[in-house]
Amino acid sequence: GTARIGVTGLATMGGNLARNLARHGYRVAVHNRSMTRTQTLLDKHGDEGDFVPAESMADLVASLQRPRQVIVMVKAGQPTDAVIDELVELLEPGDMVVDGGNAHFADTRRRETVLRERGLHFVGTGISGGEEGALNGPSIMPGGSAESYQHLGPVLESIAAQVDGQPCCTHVGPDGAGHFVKMVHNGIEYADMQLIAESYDLLRRAAGLEPAEIAEVFRTWNSGDLESYLVEITAEVLGHVDAATGRPFVDVVADEAEQKGTGRWTVQEALELGIPVTGIAEAVFARSLSARAGQRAAARGALGASSGTAKVGDRQAFVEDVRQALYASKVVAYAQGFDQIRAASEFYGWGIDLGAMATIWRGGCIIRARFLDRIRQAYHGNADLPSLLVDDYFAGAVSDGEAAWRRVVATAVESGVPAPGFSSALAYHDALRAERLPAALVQGLRDFFGAHTYRRVDRDGVFHTLWSEGRTEIGT
Ligand code: 6PG
Repeated sequence: GTARIGVTGLATMGGNLARNLARHGYRVAVHNRSMTRTQTLLDKHGDEGDFVPAESMADLVASLQRPRQVIVMVKAGQPTDAVIDELVELLEPGDMVVDGGNAHFADTRRRETVLRERGLHFVGTGISGGEEGALNGPSIMPGGSAESYQHLGPVLESIAAQVDGQPCCTHVGPDGAGHFVKMVHNGIEYADMQLIAESYDLLRRAAGLEPAEIAEVFRTWNSGDLESYLVEITAEVLGHVDAATGRPFVDVVADEAEQKGTGRWTVQEALELGIPVTGIAEAVFARSLSARAGQRAAARGALGASSGTAKVGDRQAFVEDVRQALYASKVVAYAQGFDQIRAASEFYGWGIDLGAMATIWRGGCIIRARFLDRIRQAYHGNADLPSLLVDDYFAGAVSDGEAAWRRVVATAVESGVPAPGFSSALAYHDALRAERLPAALVQGLRDFFGAHTYRRVDRDGVFHTLWSEGRTEIGT
């Protein structure tokens, strides 16, 4: 065959990725389970580049150069397994299967092992940026073998977003590393969106601003430290007016957030690794709470609605406070996400370069932001940074915003506007730097009721107090 690369699964993401490849001059073989989609792609966009339509998976494989490279863009889970099973029968040793969906990294690890045993490379790849990114330059997070990256890297780097002349694509690490990093990217995306949503809620209910005014606030914020894709589109969504009713769009959308799983997986894995990703967890739970419509109605009936009373006198000062609280809370959320990547990298032996992850998230992806260049600098300055919060720049940013952050959380509490993201980020920041934590008391209680033992601050060893036998301490 003569095609440089193949794409199977031509729904929006797959179709746009194929077009992106073709626009970059690659001969792309395209396949879809039903040929209509392939035909539509060719009818609409065939003139954008060199497409080779394939009617069957066997045709797709036959049309490719060796070693063959097939990007699979189908739904995560069973549909992905079905396509892989079909491909495996047609491919030969040295060929590469790239899964560009939002697969769970454990599935990716399993598939990688199976394909490796057959001499094939399986490359679980995170791709972020939605439809538009897939077409014009996504952020790409490929896992899999270093050898596979030698073949795929140049192609993927050329179609990725570019920032300061650098592609938003790099080899993340072996087997499931790419999908793990994409999962945490999405977890951070959840946390970031929750913090933005809380900012909006506070500005609206505690300060009494209208959606159009809040849109303007976000537009202004987008030209400072907070500059990011999510802040930019927040201004768009808040400024939008529903055509049917003339009301702010945000008031006609049902307030029940959905989720497809990547945020939940991030928290589940964080629990396994013992990494406190409180910001992501609050964001996932806030979505879950919002979706429990029946329970919410019952609570409103029994407890009365918490309507959020305006408590803010100086609106302008409050807007600035919220900006600073948002920035500080965002630093915490990202610090936690990067902690989780580091922990997983150590646990699975992935050797992930945290600075490189910040580098490839600067463009293309949903969480792209000016701020990520700061994170890149922090990890390039010190790859072993114990926490992003410890970096000079971020420590300074958080300290500068601390008073504002406390005022915002206090206002949220006083006015009855829930701000779990802001308050848990602040609590994390306070706990992390505390001289002493009440964990000492927890240890004492564990020792009291279960002889679970404790360590002392002044001597090495493990101790237990005989609580009911004269409180003598025994130790080793
Ligand atoms: C991206 C997005 C993308 C998708 C999310 C949405 O990086 O391009 O994260 O992957 O939009 O998975 O997730 P929820 O439906 O769970 O909000």
